[in-house]
Amino acid sequence: MTDSATPTGSAPEGADPEALRQRALAALLTARERTALLTDSVDDQELTAQHSPLMSPLVWDLAHIGNQEELWLLRAVAGREAMRPEIDGLYDAFEHPRATRPSLPLLAPAEARTYAAEVRGRALDVLDGAALDGGGPLVRSGFAFGMIAQHEQQHDETMLITHQLRSGTAVLSASAPPAATDAGGLAAEVLVPGGPFTMGTSTEPWALDNERPAHVRDVPGFFIDTTPVTCGAYQAFIEDGGYTERRWWEPGGWEMVREHELTAPLFWHRDADRWLRRRFGVTEEVPANEPVLHVSWYEADAYARWAGRRLPTEAEWEKAARHDPASGRSRRYPWGDEDPSPELANLGQRHLRPAPAGAYPQGQSPCGARQLMGDVWEWTSSDFLPHPGFSPFPYREYSEVFFGPDHKVLRGGSFAVDPVACRGTFRNWDLPVRRQIFSGFRTARDL
Ligand code: AVJ
Ligand code: FE
Repeated sequence: MTDSATPTGSAPEGADPEALRQRALAALLTARERTALLTDSVDDQELTAQHSPLMSPLVWDLAHIGNQEELWLLRAVAGREAMRPEIDGLYDAFEHPRATRPSLPLLAPAEARTYAAEVRGRALDVLDGAALDGGGPLVRSGFAFGMIAQHEQQHDETMLITHQLRSGTAVLSASAPPAATDAGGLAAEVLVPGGPFTMGTSTEPWALDNERPAHVRDVPGFFIDTTPVTCGAYQAFIEDGGYTERRWWEPGGWEMVREHELTAPLFWHRDADRWLRRRFGVTEEVPANEPVLHVSWYEADAYARWAGRRLPTEAEWEKAARHDPASGRSRRYPWGDEDPSPELANLGQRHLRPAPAGAYPQGQSPCGARQLMGDVWEWTSSDFLPHPGFSPFPYREYSEVFFGPDHKVLRGGSFAVDPVACRGTFRNWDLPVRRQIFSGFRTARDL
């Protein structure tokens, strides 16, 4: 995707309703441009094909994006009747697991495009007339519009994962991310002194339910890696027999390694004396200084143990990213309160890969950690649990039904996350075996 001049980060509380309306409009348009890029770059056969049992056909994501927008912006906000009540069940993610979606009587590509476009036309009229300064919690500050723009961007990231999994030649391209010019002088880890900090948010208007409310956490001092773990560092783990030694692995991870005979991150393969990887249809040598991508939580955890370290907890990650010891408050982003820009972080599918470790010096957090936003999602050691005082909004199936020990939290966003769906408080989660996602990690240790 090309650079976008429109700021699509959510605004802090107190932003004026007209500014929020413009932000919501820009965020919806930016999301639809990306959806079009991802769905117009392949033919109808590829749109309806199952590229992986882990993923939906792209045409399902497309109509599901439209259906969620219809549910929330047309029916919930504006009280409209269902446009096509018979399709709701097809696009309910809880009714049909991903692997079964190709056999459903889905809307054909042309129908799905028309449906999503019709919903969008009406949704923009609703946005035009909405009273964003008052009303219920769905409309106030444009929450539902921001939520739906984030939802579309989340599915755009999902569709980009499907693109990565498809076989065949490349259909997407993008410029290279910036170099890491001063990386040689960086310390391997930075110190985060012990003490309380504010986790979560009660003021960010488009923050989702699981990011709320703001609350104080006491976090003992720790060290955290300055940058995400690189492919080169991860190769040392592989070469030291990391995948053959049971002692580094959680029981479930060892089972996964044995069952699938894992020897490296997903998309890597050995060619004589070097590692190659396939990335969006292009095969290339694994770049040693780039953050490692496509590792499961189990692999991240095993690497950390091999390195004599551990994964950071979610609270440690957020403190390293947001806590400003000078003011005692938590920032919206590592660099401050201003929205993301191309100088600060690798977001929004501007590039189709993470930047080298140590890039984005202007984006570093007060403790000196870099690339906390963008590049790769970072696994934490924590289960996905509600913040104290959590209440589900606007629907239980966004977060609440996933709380518990099955899912691990990822933080910070990847190169495939749009700024509207990324904040210092944003929480992602997945199963510890998943590695088709744009996941990496950094490690930590006690003082
Ligand atoms: C927050 C990325 C785990 O894709 O399953 C999309 C986001 N929720 N539609 C997912 C989501 C409903 C969700 N994740
Ligand atoms: Fe969804």
